[in-house]
Order: sequence, then structure tokens, then C-alpha cells
Amino acid sequence: MAVLSWREQMSLNYPPLDDEHKAFLEEINKASEGLRERDIAKIDHMFEACYDYVRNHFSHEEDIMERINYPELEEHIVSHQLFIKNISSFRQKYEKMVDRGPKFEIAQKTIAFLSVWFLGHVISRDKPIKPYLVRLRHLPPRMNY
Ligand SMILES: [Fe+2]
Ligand SMILES: [Fe+2]
Repeated sequence: MAVLSWREQMSLNYPPLDDEHKAFLEEINKASEGLRERDIAKIDHMFEACYDYVRNHFSHEEDIMERINYPELEEHIVSHQLFIKNISSFRQKYEKMVDRGPKFEIAQKTIAFLSVWFLGHVISRDKPIKPYLVRLRHLPPRMNY
């Protein structure tokens, strides 16, 4: 699986969200490494990292979108929910398998999905919030993080 690298095209120029995106990109790369090394612990970790991303990053991003009155918030939440559904389905299939061979096959499909989803989501769904982030400056300082 090709290594994903961060591109300027993906940047929101807003480090609190950019850093979370970069960290998740690294998680996907670590999972690819795990697949190459046939390291089941790294694949288990990948699923945990996905759930952490959902819990921390999705809620962070949705919270910001709400505060800046982002007009596409509802559609964005739906796209996040669809990701949760997809990753849960991969996880279930993975957990059901006992043998390493089929487990790695599912891991490979999951990583392929994650790579395509991540690039597509950041560029076509997250990036459009960039011009609205300027609104954060007009919020009371306490909320401006
Ligand atoms: Fe998003
Ligand atoms: Fe995001």
C-alpha cells in the first residue's frame, strides 16, 4: 500500500484540525506498515486509532462547524456517520475471523478504504470549511480555540 504524504492542498491553515488530520494520516501509514510486517498488533491498533479519531476529531470538527455556522454542517455529520458505519462493518468482519490470513485480507481492504476515504474527505469535505474559519476570530476569546 502506497505511503500517504501530507500535501499543502490538504491544509486548512488551522493547526488544531490540521494536526489531527496529520496524526491520522500517520496512523494509516503505520497500519500499512503493520500489513507489510504481518504485525497483528498494529492492525488492532489501527481500529482503535479509527475510534479515537471518530471520538476526538469528528466531535472537535463538528463543534467548530457549529460555532462558525458552517452551512454544510448537516451533510458533514452524515458523512462522518457513514464513515463510522463503514469502519464498524470492517471491524466486525475482522473480529469474526480467527485465522491470521483472512484477518490480514480484511485489514488490507480496510486500509485501502481508509486511504481513499481520508484523502477524499479531507480535500472535498473538510477543506471547504477553510474560508469560514475566519469567523472563529470573532467569537469570544474563551471559545476561540
Ligand atoms: Fe470531516
Ligand atoms: Fe476532518
